Amino acid sequence: MHELIKKLFNGQVLKKEELKAILEGYTPDIAKQLAQQASQIRKKWYGDAVYVRGLIEFTNYCKNDCYYCGIRKSNCHATRYRLRKEDILDCCDKGYEIGFRTFVLQGGEDSYWKDERLCEVISAIKCKYPQCAITLSVGERSKQSYQRLFDAGADRYLLRHETANEKHYSLLHPKNLDLEHRKQCLYALKEIGYQVGCGFMVGSPHQSVDTIAEDLCFLQEFQPHMVGIGPFIPHKDTPFAKEKAGTLEMTLYLLSIVRLLLPKVLLPATTALGTIHEKGREKGILAGANVMMPNLSPENVRKNYLLYDNKISTGEEAAENLKLLKAKMTSIGCMVAIHRGDSLLMK
Ligand code: 5AD
Repeated sequence: MHELIKKLFNGQVLKKEELKAILEGYTPDIAKQLAQQASQIRKKWYGDAVYVRGLIEFTNYCKNDCYYCGIRKSNCHATRYRLRKEDILDCCDKGYEIGFRTFVLQGGEDSYWKDERLCEVISAIKCKYPQCAITLSVGERSKQSYQRLFDAGADRYLLRHETANEKHYSLLHPKNLDLEHRKQCLYALKEIGYQVGCGFMVGSPHQSVDTIAEDLCFLQEFQPHMVGIGPFIPHKDTPFAKEKAGTLEMTLYLLSIVRLLLPKVLLPATTALGTIHEKGREKGILAGANVMMPNLSPENVRKNYLLYDNKISTGEEAAENLKLLKAKMTSIGCMVAIHRGDSLLMK
């Protein structure tokens, strides 16, 4: 284990079996060592800065039926909504005023939002706030579509790969979705010039140290600019309702490992992490994360964008409470940065 940790600290590429051994070798003490080193690496590249992104959940319609997700098509209990262009711009106005310089437009795969409509929103935001970055998180689309959205002004794209193991992928998704296509999308996004984020849930059903080691191999291979990692949390109206949630410990351990494998990566302490533990996101930062994504969606729709049960939405994860978040970050030796916070890999 000592040799492996040395390799990890030296920034070497690790093989699947080595990553697996690190995962199996988890102890609270090793997790602490990794978190300390990961924090140092975060500081080396980003100083005390924590970047914030204003998350706008603009549609919860989705044509997909992923077994884990609360806004899956078959969930007839979900109250569906779609924001209008004006609503989205209002969110940006509010967000800009409190200090957000990145807006993340996230939604289900909603065919209402065809390229033309989405491009209109992107250009309108860019026209009003040319100094802000726009991140999209709207799932799988054609390369041509990704190109159009990019040309309209989108800068970044989040598309979690969910799991890098084919078999595992097929246990989380219906037959019409496959890992190969997901990867094709990720490579297409990178080729176009987006800053790209992939990622996975921790503790998803059928996950194993093997599949996580494969996730980490995929991260080393793909070299994403951003990595989204949060615990799986069951949603009561999904096939995975009775499954166990991922743990705080394993999520933090993985955040540290990812920071060490990809030193310059933009790594959010996710809302899901804040949902399973009151201090989850601060702990995430201390384990190596450097991004937070407070919710900028209009308050009346927040309760409907439920990917999992008990999702938090009124505390410091809400954009209105940026002051509180700033105070919390100061208390752990960090500072909320008021700028776009681009990937260092793009410079
Ligand atoms: N628990 C945690 N994360 C979830 N996501 C979807 N459903 C859940 C859940 N039940 C994550 C997926 C998706 C991202 C937008 O949210 O990884 O890519």
